[in-house]
Amino acid sequence: MNIIAVAVLLILLNCRSLCICTAQRLLVNMTVVRNAPAIGAFCLDGSLPAYHLHRGFGVGARNWILQFEGGGWCNDLQSCSERAKTRRGSTRYMNKQEVFSGILSNNASLNPDFYNWNRVKLRYCDGASFGGDAKFDNGTSVLYFRGQKIWEAIILDLLPKGMGQARKALLSGCSAGGLSAFIHCDNFAKILPNASVKCLSDAGFFLDEKDVSLNHTMRSFYANLVTLQGVEKNLNKNCTNFFSNNPKLCIFPQYVLRFITTPFFILNAAYDVYQFNHILVPPSADLLGQWKSCKLNTAECNAKQINILQGFRGDMLVALRFFFKNSSQGGMFINSCFAHCQSESQDTWFAVDSPRIHNKTIAKAVGDWYFNRDVTKQIDCPYPCDATCHNLIPTALDARRFLNYLSESDLGGCEDCQARRHEENKSGIIKPMHGLGMGLWLLLCSLLGLGHFF
Ligand SMILES: *[C@@H]1O[C@H](CO)[C@@H](O)[C@H](O)[C@H]1NC(C)=O
Ligand SMILES: *[C@@H]1O[C@H](CO)[C@@H](O)[C@H](O)[C@H]1NC(C)=O
Ligand SMILES: *[C@@H]1O[C@H](CO)[C@@H](O)[C@H](O)[C@H]1NC(C)=O
Ligand SMILES: *[C@@H]1O[C@H](CO)[C@@H](O)[C@H](O)[C@H]1NC(C)=O
Ligand SMILES: *[C@@H]1O[C@H](CO)[C@@H](O)[C@H](O)[C@H]1NC(C)=O
Ligand SMILES: *[C@@H]1O[C@H](CO)[C@@H](O)[C@H](O)[C@H]1NC(C)=O
Ligand SMILES: *[C@@H]1O[C@H](CO)[C@@H](O)[C@H](O)[C@H]1NC(C)=O
Ligand SMILES: *[C@@H]1O[C@H](CO)[C@@H](O)[C@H](O)[C@H]1NC(C)=O
Ligand SMILES: *[C@@H]1O[C@H](CO)[C@@H](O)[C@H](O)[C@H]1NC(C)=O
Repeated sequence: MNIIAVAVLLILLNCRSLCICTAQRLLVNMTVVRNAPAIGAFCLDGSLPAYHLHRGFGVGARNWILQFEGGGWCNDLQSCSERAKTRRGSTRYMNKQEVFSGILSNNASLNPDFYNWNRVKLRYCDGASFGGDAKFDNGTSVLYFRGQKIWEAIILDLLPKGMGQARKALLSGCSAGGLSAFIHCDNFAKILPNASVKCLSDAGFFLDEKDVSLNHTMRSFYANLVTLQGVEKNLNKNCTNFFSNNPKLCIFPQYVLRFITTPFFILNAAYDVYQFNHILVPPSADLLGQWKSCKLNTAECNAKQINILQGFRGDMLVALRFFFKNSSQGGMFINSCFAHCQSESQDTWFAVDSPRIHNKTIAKAVGDWYFNRDVTKQIDCPYPCDATCHNLIPTALDARRFLNYLSESDLGGCEDCQARRHEENKSGIIKPMHGLGMGLWLLLCSLLGLGHFF
């Protein structure tokens, strides 16, 4: 009986927060790209690619922001075949309306610099950060690895809708979509020669870092991805020439960054939870489960583990040193939070209690950089000094559902609601919502048709 009472209470509590985020949501309809087949652009399963466009207005009517959706990668036939049957590999299974919040919000008090721009969300269904161009066909099954074509098809669709006359443009994206921003930034600037084009990567600075068992887990993951999906020919040529011994490395932002000529902003948490869970401590590197409790709650990390996390932050800063020192048009915001994707959710982008460095919110930092109001290269002091963090540690349930494999990862999709899934300790220590509460929350969300948030 007690369990039922607790359950009802939890549903009520969680429902209340759910209703809060439902009330102010801007939902934008999907536009399917009908002409995509003409250039061979298909999602993994052969379905048509799509985007969501919300028109700008007033002085923003000729400005455009394009936001790549994120959602991990698939780097072998098995994971891509599985993905093709989900919303990550097919527009057939996607929600046909998307929440526009944070950097995509149309409300000036929630998104002061970009609210009146044309705002576009590019749906992710290729599994290679919009970068591949290949096809698998063995007679019985077909998989389209056409991310590059999807990107081109969406651009071709948007140009006559007013983007061709753009004055200002920002190419953005989070997670795997943040990686897309690195891949397509210069190319986008060439497409809009008369516009002032800049690019932003949110949680896309995936490091070429050895895992805690000293394996190059991420390097081999990306090498397989580049090979399977035919990404190499779409990587920056100056980078691949420079790294001619191993051109695949140019998928890593840290190697391609100095070859990108368009002004770039790098937004990333120094303790990016996705990278923590998949690059630094992937399950294969923690067979004994020594990191299990530390992954779920930073308060449980021992001194050695904290040192390793500080080492990860240090390596990220080293990888960014050239950019920090030498990029005159670049911007950065590296906060010491346990998070992944901070531009699309309202509570991390711009809110009374959103994360700050030197009292500057992410929205302000990005806006100051975009409009040249201020030089914005912010690096936070190391954990646990920052009390403004919204730490979004994946829960045990997330871990079981999504985090065992890089290819199935799904962080960053929860938008406004995500922060509410965790009780936060403002001094920086995290207390995730566990077990029953989380399960009921997911159940409730799926009952209400919000399953796509996960
Ligand atoms: C969005 O789609 C819904 C359902 O198909 C439709 O009722 C609504 O009119 C559309 N809204 C806009 C702005 O096109
Ligand atoms: C914009 O956001 C503010 C703050 O959340 C809210 O008070 C206001 O009603 C919103 N405006 C519109 C038009 O939704
Ligand atoms: C074709 O590839 C799929 C996916 O890898 C596999 O399941 C199937 O057995 C293959 N069919 C043949 C005839 O090789
Ligand atoms: C850019 O502007 C120049 C000069 O106004 C014009 O000739 C050219 O067609 C424009 N290019 C594009 C792609 O709009
Ligand atoms: C490569 O670098 C040269 C010289 O800096 C530049 O002109 C060219 O546009 C670059 N190419 C690419 C693909 O970035
Ligand atoms: C390193 O990675 C390889 C390939 O993924 C794997 O077979 C091996 O077990 C890993 N070694 C360690 C110590 O994790
Ligand atoms: C910045 O550029 C200069 C000149 O190209 C170079 O000597 C210096 O090493 C660079 N700084 C860093 C931190 O890479
Ligand atoms: C931080 O910024 C807010 C406005 O964004 C301002 O009201 C507040 O006084 C600032 N706090 C400090 C300590 O500077
Ligand atoms: C938050 O973390 C601080 C620092 O470890 C700790 O002293 C405090 O008790 C925690 N507060 C709560 C409510 O858990």
